[in-house]
Amino acid sequence: MSEQNNLMEKIVSLCKRRGFVFPACEIYGGLANAYSYGPYGVQLKKNIKDLWWKKFVEEREDIVGIDGPIILHPKLWEASGHTTGFNDAMVDCKACQKRFRADHLVKELTGKDLEGNLTGMTTALQGQKCPECKKSDWTEVRTLNMMFKTEMNGINEPVYLRPETAGAIFADYKNVLDSTRVKIPFGIAQIGKAFRNEIVARNFIFRLREFEQMEIEYFIDPEMEWESLFETWLKKQEEFFTEAGVDMKRIVRFEHSKEKLSHYSRKTVDIEFVYPFGQSELCGLAHRGDFDLSQHAKFSGAELRYSDPNDNAKKYIPHVLEPSFGLDRALLAVLCSAYTEEVIKGEDGKKDDIRVVMKFPPSIAPVQIAIFPLLKNKPALVDKAKEIFNALKKDFTCEFDDNGNVGKRYRRQDEIGTPYCVTIDFDTIEKDDTVTIRDRDTMQQERIKIEDLQKYFAEKIK
Ligand code: GAP
Repeated sequence: MSEQNNLMEKIVSLCKRRGFVFPACEIYGGLANAYSYGPYGVQLKKNIKDLWWKKFVEEREDIVGIDGPIILHPKLWEASGHTTGFNDAMVDCKACQKRFRADHLVKELTGKDLEGNLTGMTTALQGQKCPECKKSDWTEVRTLNMMFKTEMNGINEPVYLRPETAGAIFADYKNVLDSTRVKIPFGIAQIGKAFRNEIVARNFIFRLREFEQMEIEYFIDPEMEWESLFETWLKKQEEFFTEAGVDMKRIVRFEHSKEKLSHYSRKTVDIEFVYPFGQSELCGLAHRGDFDLSQHAKFSGAELRYSDPNDNAKKYIPHVLEPSFGLDRALLAVLCSAYTEEVIKGEDGKKDDIRVVMKFPPSIAPVQIAIFPLLKNKPALVDKAKEIFNALKKDFTCEFDDNGNVGKRYRRQDEIGTPYCVTIDFDTIEKDDTVTIRDRDTMQQERIKIEDLQKYFAEKIK
């Protein structure tokens, strides 16, 4: 096994062992690469989401949020082109029935990029061996629409689980404009679930069929110079990942070539991350022109032109810049960046040991402070530890832990990524009202007065 695969396995295993991410419905044998976020995973996800919302909505005067439904009017997906065009190419091995995403398989087996060329891919696969059963008996390459179809009482046609959150933003554009004081340029942001019936879901939480997106549609005047704004948005996206603890040395920008751009897009850049399984998309930024609002105006009949408040004669369909983030991929990049193994030199003839530490930034860590009584059978220590826990949990995410010896508790908290552990010992209650604070990264310990804890952590964590 390559070192990188091995690293991915270690991260997946830590996620399960420590309650970050579990295979969903494991007691029923799992379901098609679906995952649940466990107690630490859900908190980490919330912290990433909160950081995003604070940075892109609360701290900005020009961006407002919405929360639209997962099932939207089916006509909306006709307008956006998803009903007919949101397809991936698939191919089946007739010998073992295994299904593959055709463009990925062709690339893997022949090195050719034939995305979009169904006949070309069918031809390229002739004589190629199935990676699963090693036989060579392929169906023709054909397309599959990736939207999940379902039914809704009172509606006489199929409805869909949204394949992206953007749809609701365009549908609500007019209501936002009419009900708030936003003026162009302005953005509408949304965080929520999206669903894609991916042909192959793989690489842990990288490619899922049910995932979360954090998207912004940023509406601009078609006549404005947009190139510098595009660059500013890319920088803002990268800034967000820096703040979330992503290793920026593993971030690469990938600009789509002119030939591969959607017909309406002037420029699209993916921000990619070097995951243990390879470099791949983390998030994207696209200039989508006026495609979306024009289509929705056409299909709905609504007036979606913007009236310039400074010029009565000027009416236009705004252009849009779309910074689009995948929350699960952001979380995966944060996990991969935080995962660290350190060798602890064995003393007194003991063997060297490996310390696994998740080095999350303190503001993102699912537990920020762990509070330990030195011994769990000494009520005076436990009572004092509980008192400190109850005081600190109002401002920080805290965990009370009295299980096992303190060394073991440190190791457990290292794997959870807790930046600070506080131990209450006999000196605390008998001598000087001080506690020991242990730093996750340096493993240094210092004694701090209980009355100074709040200020100490406020400076370190916020
Ligand atoms: N509205 C534009 C849009 O949806 P996209 O590149 O298809 O663009 C945006 O998706 C982001 O959503 C991606 O950069 C990725 O982070 C995330 N994403 C897309 N498909 C995903 C999947 N199957 N599993 C997890 N995340 C996914």
